[in-house]
Amino acid sequence: MKRAGIFGLITGILFFSCGQIQYANIDMPPKRVKLIKDFGEDASKMILKELKKELKTALKTKGSVGAIDVCSKKALEITQEVAEEIGDIEIKRTSFKYRNPKNRPDRYETEALSFFEKTLRETGKIPPYYIQKINGEYRYYKPLKVQGVCLTCHGDPKSMDPRVVEKLRQLYPEDKATGYKLGDFRGVIRVTIPEDVIKKSCL
Ligand code: HEC
Repeated sequence: MKRAGIFGLITGILFFSCGQIQYANIDMPPKRVKLIKDFGEDASKMILKELKKELKTALKTKGSVGAIDVCSKKALEITQEVAEEIGDIEIKRTSFKYRNPKNRPDRYETEALSFFEKTLRETGKIPPYYIQKINGEYRYYKPLKVQGVCLTCHGDPKSMDPRVVEKLRQLYPEDKATGYKLGDFRGVIRVTIPEDVIKKSCL
């Protein structure tokens, strides 16, 4: 206990005195970091663009309740399609407070989500990315912030349309993804890139 306390203190001093946040779970040459970042950003932007386009059309033509169907039936499908289009990569959306149990974080995603939350607590800012290297692959994580439109389905149930709340309750009886406020850290997009792809591009 005492030892853990001293260890924590030293880690804290090191963290603050160096003022340096480690954005990856290993040391990497800057060139490699840049390549992974570019790859991850491109893929996440593509997926965000597709999801937003779909959501906007659905909200306009079907209203909030109808748009839930689009999110629940199409989000995973769209994610898969974008990954296949780019090729060789995997994309997943995950969060500590997930709505669909299929989006539950695994061990490594839990570590990444904790990094974002811890850094936000300590610096007041959501860090722009996180990279992990695990068994022959890189994982790039892009954080997602809650915007106005998200509150329609992820806000405080008391101020949401009761029909939306009811529909969500039916589809996701164990929904954890409500109660968010504007600007909150919502979760991440994870882009997995095989090490070979990065190595090839480094040549
Ligand atoms: C019309 C309702 C609706 C709106 C608006 C909406 N979402 Fe969602 N969101 C959902 C549904 C439904 C799911 C579950 C999707 C599934 O089953 O894969 C979901 C899932 C997610 C997930 C995956 C993790 C999880 O909880 O399962 C993230 C991340 C997410 N939403 C972020 C956002 C963000 C950020 C916005 C705003 C830009 C937003 N959502 C707007 C309905 C919505």
